[in-house]
Amino acid sequence: MSDPKGLTRNLGLDLVRVTEMVALAVGRWMGRGSRLEADAAATEMMVTALNTLDLDGTIVIGEESKSGVHSPLDSGQHVGNGSGPAMDVVVDPIDGTNLLVQGRSGALSVVGVAPRGSMWSVAPAAYMEKLVVDRDVADALVPECLEAPAAWTLALIARLKKKQIRDLVVFVLDRPRHADLIEEIRMAGARVALRADGDIAGAIQAALPGSNIDVLMGVGGVSEGVTAACAVRALRGAMLARLAPQSPEEQAAVLAAGLDTRRILSCRELVQSEDVYFAATGVTGGPLLDGVEYHGNLAEAHSLVLRGATGTRRFMRTEYLLDALSDLPPIAGL
Ligand code: FBP
Repeated sequence: MSDPKGLTRNLGLDLVRVTEMVALAVGRWMGRGSRLEADAAATEMMVTALNTLDLDGTIVIGEESKSGVHSPLDSGQHVGNGSGPAMDVVVDPIDGTNLLVQGRSGALSVVGVAPRGSMWSVAPAAYMEKLVVDRDVADALVPECLEAPAAWTLALIARLKKKQIRDLVVFVLDRPRHADLIEEIRMAGARVALRADGDIAGAIQAALPGSNIDVLMGVGGVSEGVTAACAVRALRGAMLARLAPQSPEEQAAVLAAGLDTRRILSCRELVQSEDVYFAATGVTGGPLLDGVEYHGNLAEAHSLVLRGATGTRRFMRTEYLLDALSDLPPIAGL
């Protein structure tokens, strides 16, 4: 007899050790103003830790098209020791690098994994429009919700959540491109949670039942969008997304690649398998997860682990003895 589904390997429990290691390595860069050094330490640790896993992984979408910076975590790179299941991988060693280096709350380290070929891969695209809701609204989220005026979509969400529109809180990244959207949301009577960065955390909060964010709206990174879709799918929430090039160069690259900027994708199209795993660890404390804390030789990390096939959701607090990690260069060097 095969193992009961709930007792088969939960890859998320391996992934969380990766995000914890990255968080421990980069938590030291909090408030130190050094974006490049923090990014380099995060990437080095993520590659080192991922390559210890029994995993034949391929990064499906890196951040190179948005940042212009190349790294071993670009699209198409292989991760894992090659001996495990063939999987698509999306990573964001630090979502919210500016939050971290400015000492602000809400930076996370995240990884999402799903069977090979199941994640949407749109290499030259950098930005997408996103709409994320929780499971109470999931079945009613139709593509029109992304095209309709915000007031119409918010009225639908309020009805399904049995709330008044004025009780809704909408996560929006604080960007000039969102000026009209913010105005529309306010005119509809809902409240806006404007955040400087970190729309993966925003998407998780929107998809997490009972959190104080009801919906995420607006344009953010594509790799962050596909990463967030792993978590949203595992949480049984719903997401709509559509490419939204932010420069003539991006528009040209997207068109040259034959990508359709009118196509609206659902969460199930962004991540086509239910067998999805997701892990996130707080780097600086925020509404979703506490950040890394150091107490001499002791460090404490706070993480979330999700598994799509079973819908399990683990919030974990982990203590590390730092001298036991002294052979890991990015941690030992700090
Ligand atoms: P980084 O940590 O890579 O800087 O990303 C932070 C972030 O806020 C993402 O969460 C979001 O998807 C994206 O930037 C938005 O891009 P931009 O800052 O260019 O508007």
